[in-house]
Amino acid sequence: MNMNKRIPFFRAVFLALVMTVAGCAGSGVEVDEVKGRAEAMNRWLGHGVNLGNALDAPTEGEWGVVLKECYFDKIKEAGFDSVRLPVRWSTHALEDSPYTIDPVFMKRVQWAVDRCIERDLPVILDIHHYTELYTDPIPHKERFMALWKQIAAHFKDYPELLLFEIYNEPDDAFTPELWNEWLAEAIVLIRGNHPDRTLVVGSANDNWITFLKLLELPEDDRNIIVTVHHYFPLSFTHQGTSWTTAEKMSRTLEDMRFIGQDLPPWSEKWDGRQGPEAWDGTVWSGTDMEKKAMTDLFEIASSWSEKHQRPLNLGEYGAYKAADAESRIRWTRFITETALAHGLSTHYWEFCAGGFGLYHPDTKTFNERLLKAASGQSGK
Ligand code: BGC
Repeated sequence: MNMNKRIPFFRAVFLALVMTVAGCAGSGVEVDEVKGRAEAMNRWLGHGVNLGNALDAPTEGEWGVVLKECYFDKIKEAGFDSVRLPVRWSTHALEDSPYTIDPVFMKRVQWAVDRCIERDLPVILDIHHYTELYTDPIPHKERFMALWKQIAAHFKDYPELLLFEIYNEPDDAFTPELWNEWLAEAIVLIRGNHPDRTLVVGSANDNWITFLKLLELPEDDRNIIVTVHHYFPLSFTHQGTSWTTAEKMSRTLEDMRFIGQDLPPWSEKWDGRQGPEAWDGTVWSGTDMEKKAMTDLFEIASSWSEKHQRPLNLGEYGAYKAADAESRIRWTRFITETALAHGLSTHYWEFCAGGFGLYHPDTKTFNERLLKAASGQSGK
């Protein structure tokens, strides 16, 4: 699917430049000297998938997924271009200085990274679910940086196919201000070992699009892809889940109002006074109004990207299994296509866990229609 695969970076950048000049660049994103390397890598990421609920669980297997070699084959065969690998390091490291990461866990993560690389799948490795950061981040700063120091040292000689994402979904007490401060420090730390590696950094408030405006990145570091997550509307995508709050939905709607966005009529119903228990049966029919709520958000993302000359990735999106099958496929297809039309690479949440998964490990089959919608092949 992605034509930059298998070719070294500088050729990829050159090719992308030639294609843009020739007017045949697929997504309409222009590659220029400013964004060059990160932009080429973002094209390489293409349409990918999250290997979620495995290494991001408190311990692997606790959320039903133990990674297997064949999963990487399935991902490749299904036509995905890249993988995002969420990892919960915080339950596998010493609580006190020097915060050593359990070597067995490090080896396990490396095994998963290697399985991607040997299949030519770029892989984004992050820090995920460091849950203490949501309630009381400051006492954990030294440990967080120590984790990055160890990860950066461990993967020092890895090829460019490995990308690092500083942190998944900062939120709550991990405020936008704190996040800007920490991400700048983490970037300096990582750059010590990885001057040329492409990094991925998300916006605050769960990587929500409207929070891009508060994101501050080091101006002189252009090798950064910015990531956003999109689960809007939560009343549809997160119906039936046990971990979503009404407050999150109302915050999302508040953001949209704040930026003067048209809200779809059904949003009145989900104004924060009603929690997830009232969301059952919410459908996504793909009406003009529903679509506009989405495209408006992606417009915000692309204008930000254009203004700041940073390539964008949609690092997570998906609808939980409790939503009706047709709505899930419609919504997923629409988001994949809208993201592509706005020049974002994508990573569907997620590969094979029961909730959002595309692949059923028991029957060894894919949910074919959802797979097509998530991998950008629905029109083919
Ligand atoms: C979390 C997952 C969750 C997903 C959808 C992700 O960021 O890491 O645990 O299932 O969002 O809510």
